[in-house]
Amino acid sequence: MARVLFEKVTKSYGDVQVVREFNLEIADQEFLVLVGPSGCGKSTTLRMIAGLEEITSGDLFIGERRVNDIAPKDRDIAMVFQNYALYPHMTVFDNMSFALKLRRMPSAQIKRRVEEVAETLGIGELLQRKPKQLSGGQRQRVAMGRAIVRDPKVFLFDEPLSNLDAKLRVQMRVELSRLHTRLKTTMVYVTHDQVEAMTLADRIVVLNGGYIQQVGTPMELYHTPANAFVGGFIGSPSMNFFSADVASEGGRITVTGDGYHLTLGDESAAQLKAHGDLKRVMVGLRPKDISPEAVEDNFIESVVDVIEPMGGETFYYFDVGESQIVGRSEGGVSASVGEVTRFRVDVDNIHLFSEDGETRLN
Ligand SMILES: Nc1ncnc2c1ncn2[C@@H]1O[C@H](COP(=O)(O)OP(=O)(O)OP(=O)(O)O)[C@@H](O)[C@H]1O
Ligand SMILES: [Mg+2]
Repeated sequence: MARVLFEKVTKSYGDVQVVREFNLEIADQEFLVLVGPSGCGKSTTLRMIAGLEEITSGDLFIGERRVNDIAPKDRDIAMVFQNYALYPHMTVFDNMSFALKLRRMPSAQIKRRVEEVAETLGIGELLQRKPKQLSGGQRQRVAMGRAIVRDPKVFLFDEPLSNLDAKLRVQMRVELSRLHTRLKTTMVYVTHDQVEAMTLADRIVVLNGGYIQQVGTPMELYHTPANAFVGGFIGSPSMNFFSADVASEGGRITVTGDGYHLTLGDESAAQLKAHGDLKRVMVGLRPKDISPEAVEDNFIESVVDVIEPMGGETFYYFDVGESQIVGRSEGGVSASVGEVTRFRVDVDNIHLFSEDGETRLN
């Protein structure tokens, strides 16, 4: 069992707390992704699991063992960093076998193990090369291989793909998914890229300012973000936000403002009512739920500023009050810049937050 358990873990540097009362259980064999903006505490959290940062308070367990005071080398974890950190003067083989030699594994066994892992990563031909004779993607695979040969209980990844170009990043992302399916080892993966988080994770932890904002499956986070921060962070292009007046009209609840008038569905209306008699809310809508169409109700009307045709889809930029909004249609362009355009809003997919964006209301 290689679950990882955080109980009220905090981390401070001097009197600045950078990880705040972190409670989380990472299941055995789970692929857990920590995601959030720069400086939110992702690497610090990962480095506490690795034993590279001391824990200020709370308890951390790997398996059944409390590891607060266990040295990194005795934690049975392997970490892959963004900058690979390969030994430049050693061959790929020596880089990959280094930890096994330290463990005094017999050399025939080391050779077998390294070759086997190199083969699965598609770097079997490169074992005699030095890191500088490799491409970025190949170096990344060596760094991965070096971690895999050790057969750790937990893999830790800190932005391992961020040095790669866009195409290779996608390719390595797919390989990582395969790797997890094959190895079935607990993996904790740090990234600031929400696409990586969505595609790789069994569960995602969204962090902001050292606080856990939400923990859930990619679909839970996408469909029911706990607050506006998570709503805006997960999904691309980002969720749109604007604040709206709430009113009751003939038994229905409406949210209205400059250029729009939306009638909530029964479910959202009931959920909103349960929070009391709110006069204003923050509305969140994903671009896919705002498309140009001349409907008679549940629309936003505004002057289109910019149109971005992408081929398979088109994006439309316009203002609602103070907020810049992005709408989307499938296929080609169906509006004109500078013209007043009506956008149909799919109210079934509306997200309602408290005015400050802190709380989900529906
Ligand atoms: N040794 C240190 N001393 C003081 N503050 C530190 C130290 N290391 C990190 N911090 C601070 O702790 C906070 C969290 O840092 P951390 O490296 O965990 O962020 P991150 O989420 O990994 O960000 P990034 O995406 O930029 O890598 C930051 O505000 C950072 O400035
Ligand atoms: Mg970091």
